[in-house]
Formats: sequence, structure tokens, C-alpha cells
Amino acid sequence: MTNRIFFPSLCEVEQMKKIVISTGGGDAPGLNAVIYAITKSAHYRGWEVYGSHSGYKGLLDPNELVRLTPEIVEDITPTGGTILGSTNKGNPFAMPVKNLAGEVQLRDVSDLIMQTFTRMGFFCHIAVGGDGSLEIAHRFATEKGMPVIGVPKTIDNDLQATQRTFGCDTAVATATEAIDRLHSTAKSHDRVMVVEVMGRDSGWIALNSGISGCADVILIPEIPFDIEKACAKINDNELHHKHYAIVVVAEGARAKDAEVIHKATDAHEIGRQEILLGGVGDWVAQQIREKTGKDTRSLVLGHLQRGGSPTTFDRMLALRFGGAAVRLAEQGIFDHMVALSATDIVAVPLSEAIKTRKKVPLDSDKVLTAREIGICLGD
Ligand code: F6P
Repeated sequence: MTNRIFFPSLCEVEQMKKIVISTGGGDAPGLNAVIYAITKSAHYRGWEVYGSHSGYKGLLDPNELVRLTPEIVEDITPTGGTILGSTNKGNPFAMPVKNLAGEVQLRDVSDLIMQTFTRMGFFCHIAVGGDGSLEIAHRFATEKGMPVIGVPKTIDNDLQATQRTFGCDTAVATATEAIDRLHSTAKSHDRVMVVEVMGRDSGWIALNSGISGCADVILIPEIPFDIEKACAKINDNELHHKHYAIVVVAEGARAKDAEVIHKATDAHEIGRQEILLGGVGDWVAQQIREKTGKDTRSLVLGHLQRGGSPTTFDRMLALRFGGAAVRLAEQGIFDHMVALSATDIVAVPLSEAIKTRKKVPLDSDKVLTAREIGICLGD
């Protein structure tokens, strides 16, 4: 990188009004649009903007800080990923570091981060992230006195305090397009196609893409499923001269009386706080094959759902969140997160935002619609 910076002298620091942005957790389409909006809105106010590489890395090591100018962010809004990089292994209160013996130990580096923050003369940190990153931001605000503003992002849309997070709409569009494509091949071969989508413990991606893609069965974490019910739906298709079926499974879905299927849980082994989900699609396909005798295939959409250009909806939401975050900074409202409430962008305390994860309400019109148009939800 050509534009990384070093510590300015202290007298320079005092004259500047400066903010720093970080992007943490899994990337989501729309992150660059937030960075664009923050940079431009701050520049409009005559402030300087810095980006911290890979979550808090830039706040640990100033060589990993990058100066963001309107020229640098000029064309990033339609692009996927984050120009700042991201990580879900970087909790500064419990950073995995190897000791001389090569063993991984967790170290609290939050005070080092505060030192950089103060020395650089930042007056505000805008933390863009999901529940994990926002929890860390809240700890910095309450335990270390850092003036923090949160911006919610995640394709999972599982933050309770905001109606929507950016990234989800793009992920749903990608999954829907994939499901659309599966129809023709499933139909040509009289097959059952099982597609596993992301979303962790919430079924938003599965439900929205499954309904939009006219799936026959949608299995979400909120409704522990009975595989027999899914098979009955597939057999029922035959009676209606439909010899194929599309099954959408959320990665966090589980059969009744069974555990969630996952790839790894060991935080040290995988270097992350959360278990790594995956595998339920294969399991469901195997069960369907055995129980219905139908030729069945499964696929995992995985990180395809996180890539690509954000939809117009996600761009707009991200741009509005970015603009609103800078307005909060100007008003001195810290330890809050920007959120979508009906048609407005509002501020909610970070303590509220991280309390619970948002699930699909079982009495929502989407669930009712799915049932009424003949989709089996496995119950
Ligand atoms: O939280 C976003 C998400 O994409 C989840 O849907 C998924 O379970 C997880 O991240 C995957 O994480 P990783 O990028 O570490 O594989």
C-alpha cells in the first residue's frame, strides 16, 4: 500500500479532527459503500478519515492505518468486499497469539489499541460489523472510554435492533438466482436438488430465497424439521406429475431432537469465537435419497453469497448508514449503532443492539405465505 501512514507529531495531531473506520467479521456486500459515505460525509465537514486494516490491526500497528480521501474511495461503492480487509479472528480483548513454544494464547491488547487511538488524535471510531464486532465496540466504549459508533452489517440479517442489515439483500439475490438455475437441471433429470445457504442461526436468507425461487421445501433454524415431512412433500410432487424438487436448507437448520451439524467448534483450532456451520445439506440429501428413492444431489452456495456487487437496496442502506454514523459523530452520540426503523435511520444504544439475535418470526406473513403457496417447512 502506498498510502499507509506513520505517527504524525503531537502538534499536528492537535490541529486535526480525525475519525477512524474499521470493518470486522465476515465481509458483506455494501461495506465499501459505507466506507465511501463516511469518507465523503466526513470530508464535507473538513475532517480527516483513516481506515484500520483487518478490523483492529491498524489500531494496533499504525503502519496498518490508511488515510481515506474522496479520491481513494471514488469508485468503490459498487464493489464487493471491503477495501480495508476484515477478520473474524481479531477480538482485541482475547487476541490469539503464539508464544515462543508455538502454543496459542489469548492476549488482551485493548490498552495498546487505546494508546494508538489517543496518540493518533482520533475523536471517534466507526466500527462496521456484525454482532461480534459490535460487542467488541461496546466493550471499548464502556470499559476503555473509546467514543464508538456502530454500523450493522451481515448477510445473515440477524441483528435485532435494525430491521435490515446491508448485505442480506445481495446474498438473497445470489441465492435466488442459483435456485432459479437449479430448476431446469432438476427438472431435466427428475432429481431432487438440495441447496445449503448461509445465515447462521437465522433463516432469513433461506426463507427469502426459497420463497422467491419457488422451492418445494425450506428448512430454517427457527423450525426444527421432521425429515419425513420433507420427504412426504417430495413424494406428493409425484402425484401432481412433478418429478423433481428443490429443497433449500439454512446452514443452521437442524432436525427435531438433533444437534446442529457443524464443521468445527474448537476456537483455537479455527481461530474464531463461533462454530463453523456446514454439512446439513448433505445430510438432508442423503436422507431424501434413502427415504424416497429419488436421485438426489446437494450443493453448498457458501461464500458465493458474500461476494459480488451490492444490490441497489444494499448500496442505499449502506450509504445511508454511513452518512448517519457521521452525523452521530458530529452530535457526539457515542456507544450507539445506526439502525433502520421503518423508513428512517435511527440511533440505538449498542447495549440494546447486541442483546439478542433476530430470528424469523413464525407468525410473520412470509412464513404464512410460504405455507399457503404449498412450500413445506419441515413441520
Ligand atoms: O456471518 C456471516 C457468515 O457468512 C455466516 O452466514 C457464515 O456461517 C459465516 O459467516 C462463515 O464464516 P467464514 O467466513 O469464517 O467461513
